[in-house]
Amino acid sequence: MAVKIAAIYSSPRRKGNTSALLSMAAKGAQGAGANVDSIVLRDYKISPCLEIYGCRAEGECAIKDDFQAVRDRLLAADGIIIATPIFFYTVGAHLKAFMDRCQSLWVKKYWIGPANGDMGEPARKAFVIAAGATRGKKLFDGMLLSMKYFLDVFDARIDERLLFRGLDLEGDVLGFPEYLDEAYRMGEAFARSFNHHQKDENRPG
Ligand SMILES: Cc1cc2nc3c(=O)[nH]c(=O)nc-3n(C[C@H](O)[C@H](O)[C@H](O)COP(=O)(O)O)c2cc1C
Repeated sequence: MAVKIAAIYSSPRRKGNTSALLSMAAKGAQGAGANVDSIVLRDYKISPCLEIYGCRAEGECAIKDDFQAVRDRLLAADGIIIATPIFFYTVGAHLKAFMDRCQSLWVKKYWIGPANGDMGEPARKAFVIAAGATRGKKLFDGMLLSMKYFLDVFDARIDERLLFRGLDLEGDVLGFPEYLDEAYRMGEAFARSFNHHQKDENRPG
C-alpha cells in the first residue's frame, strides 16, 4: 500500500518561499510513490486554544471548528511534511493556533492515555521545512523546539529538515533553483525511507 504523507502548508502566503519548497518536496514524495494529502492551513477556520480544558474528559477538544478534520488527516498519515516561515523566531500564527489546539492530543497522550505517554518507537516520521529572512545562528532554534514537542503528540519524530536563511520576499526562493531541487530530492528520499522501513518489518526471521 502507498505511504500516506500529509503536507502542511502553514504560511499565510500561498505562493511564498516555504510553499514553493513544500510543493517541490510533495512532488518528490509523489514521484517516489507516496500518496500526498495537501493541507493549506490558511483555508481552515481554527480558533486558538481557549484553555478551558474541555479535553480533560476524553482528550477531545471542546471547540468545534475545522481543527478536528485537519487533526484527523494528520492522524491518518504515516509521514508529515510541514513547512513554516519564521515569524519572530518561531512558527506563524496559523500553525501556532493549530499546534495549541493539539494540547487536546497532549492531554490524551500524557494525562489520559493508558501508557501515560508511551515513549516507545515513534509511529510517524516528520520532515520540517522552514525559511527566514535573516542569517542568525539561532534563527531556527525556537521553531524546532516548538515543532519537536508539537509533533510528539502525533508520535512523530523529526527525521529530516530543510532550513533556509536569507529568503524574504515572495518568490525569493525561485532565485535558488538548487534549494528547490534539494526539496524535491529530500521529499523523494523521505517517501522512500518508509518503503525501506516496511521492507525491514516484513523481512522473515
Ligand atoms: C510577521 C513576520 C515576522 C517575521 N519574523 C522573522 C524573524 O523573526 N526572523 C527572520 O529571519 N525573518 C522573519 N520574517 C521573514 C520571513 O520569515 C520570510 O519572509 C520568509 O521567507 C517567509 O516565508 P513564506 O514566504 O513561506 O511565508 C518575518 C516575517 C513576518 C511577516
